[in-house]
Amino acid sequence: MLYTRLMSDPALEPKSPSESEVMMTQMILPPDANPLNAAFGGKVMEWIDICGGIAAQRHCRQVVVTASMDELHFHAPIRVGWIVILRARVLAAFHTSMEVGVTVTAENPLTGERKLTTSALLTFVALSAEGAKVPVPPLKLESEAERRAFQEAHARRDERLSRRDQVHAWRQVLAGAGTTRTTST
Ligand SMILES: CC(C)(COP(=O)(O)OP(=O)(O)OC[C@H]1O[C@@H](n2cnc3c(N)ncnc32)[C@H](O)[C@@H]1OP(=O)(O)O)[C@@H](O)C(=O)NCCC(=O)NCCS
Repeated sequence: MLYTRLMSDPALEPKSPSESEVMMTQMILPPDANPLNAAFGGKVMEWIDICGGIAAQRHCRQVVVTASMDELHFHAPIRVGWIVILRARVLAAFHTSMEVGVTVTAENPLTGERKLTTSALLTFVALSAEGAKVPVPPLKLESEAERRAFQEAHARRDERLSRRDQVHAWRQVLAGAGTTRTTST
């Protein structure tokens, strides 16, 4: 019954990853910089979240919330005054969640030289206006690279969920943080 509804719902027609593609261009200004005159990581993370969220919304045409951000790597610093190009695409659509890949490339505005500076994977969950989780359209995979990315995303999802549900020693350490005081001698 639910299956029949999902199959006949035009909002759940399969969509290709390219339909969700987002390209966002920014510039690193002095307020976005760290004391080394390079981009502040938190600012780049904000743009990654926005760019990835737009890709997820383009895929499902629903409100989305960020469930997780992982595989976040700052490969190289971005200088103040440089142009920043973010690209995002949905890599996999599950039931109510989607994995989105985001890359950040910095461009020297004077020479046009470009390099990959940051990459990240995010999971977004689609929500209705009432805040209930809603199904997202399946992904229509068109190339071999897209099929491989989808398979990798599936494997990561299992690992991510199992890690989410584990009891982590580091969280226990932080749960106790602030309750003990060290004294200097
Ligand atoms: C994300 C959220 C909606 C998940 O809801 P939930 O009821 O805890 O999660 P469920 O276990 O039912 O999972 C729902 C979906 O989210 C996915 N999910 C949940 N937690 C996840 C995590 N940490 N990482 C990746 N995916 C996750 C599940 O795999 C599932 O996907 P599926 O439907 O495609 O199979 C909920 O935890 C939430 O609202 N979090 C806050 C979101 C937010 O405010 N984001 C902004 C950050 S400031």
